[in-house]
Amino acid sequence: MKKRIMSFVALGMSALLLTACSSSNKTDDNTLKVGIIQYVEHQSLDDIYAGIVDELESNGYKDGVNIEIDYQNAQGDQSNLKTISSKFVNDNSDIIIAIATPSAQAVASETSEIPIIGASITDMVSAGLVESNEKPNTNITGVSDMPPVEEQLNILLELVPNAKKIGIAYCTNEVNSEVQVNIALDYLKSKGIEPVITTVTNSNDISQAISSIAGKVDGLFIPVDNIMASAMPTVSSICEENKLPIVTGASVMVEQGSVGTSAFDYYDAGKQTGKMAIRILNGEKPENTPVEFVTETKIYLNKTFADKIGLDIPQSIIDKASEIY
Ligand code: TRP
Repeated sequence: MKKRIMSFVALGMSALLLTACSSSNKTDDNTLKVGIIQYVEHQSLDDIYAGIVDELESNGYKDGVNIEIDYQNAQGDQSNLKTISSKFVNDNSDIIIAIATPSAQAVASETSEIPIIGASITDMVSAGLVESNEKPNTNITGVSDMPPVEEQLNILLELVPNAKKIGIAYCTNEVNSEVQVNIALDYLKSKGIEPVITTVTNSNDISQAISSIAGKVDGLFIPVDNIMASAMPTVSSICEENKLPIVTGASVMVEQGSVGTSAFDYYDAGKQTGKMAIRILNGEKPENTPVEFVTETKIYLNKTFADKIGLDIPQSIIDKASEIY
């Protein structure tokens, strides 16, 4: 509303100053600037982006009409994250939407004024983005995709019921993964199973890291981890060579080559983020906007991949699946 009044005044002014301002663009004053930063290229994050844009559009916020979306992908690179974040701040964006934890952390370190909405951030508190999920008390709020780690591990343990050792692979630069790994460690230990961790700092390490434990564990768990998700063909082919049952955090990772999981639909998570962005564009303050959670999970299986590693998926799991590739 405030923007509309301002643009009305601005229109009147530009009529008065027509000759002086002949080169100004008429839509400039009422176009809202939305910066969207995505950490890395992988299908789940692309789905989140599509959900955000579709939700904005179906509520009348159309790119190039009344909002201007500047969409940038950092390609998993820390210095790109910083460059893009400071560009959005210098451009005086009205809001910034940050897809994945490293993007939200990068934007947060550039501005404490512009409202930031985190899209599918595993744990906003551990990432240092908010004081609490109930009351952020910062210029940041968002939608969390904290996954059902124990449920995901139960699927793996049902696939390999006699497992003694379970591998866990993740990227140490991602606090989102660390949080999930800690839950996994506690759970496996409570079941008397020995966890075997292997880590990477970037996608170049993945092949070596997974090969190093592949022959030593009965199954592999990979959480919702951006670097792992961006290199699923590599992960999957090593598991295939070693006939290693693997359960992953996200559904797209199942489609690209793991046995299964219980997970969210990330397009829907994007739509939920878009709804929150609209509330913030309408004046709601992030500091008072509780973090929301994605709640609806489905079971995804990849029978083609299971066949490749010679694994029979028990009928009890197949019966619960919503999506079978
Ligand atoms: N939750 C991740 C984060 O906080 C981002 C993410 C969303 C993701 N969906 C994913 C990562 C699927 C890997 C796979 O950074």
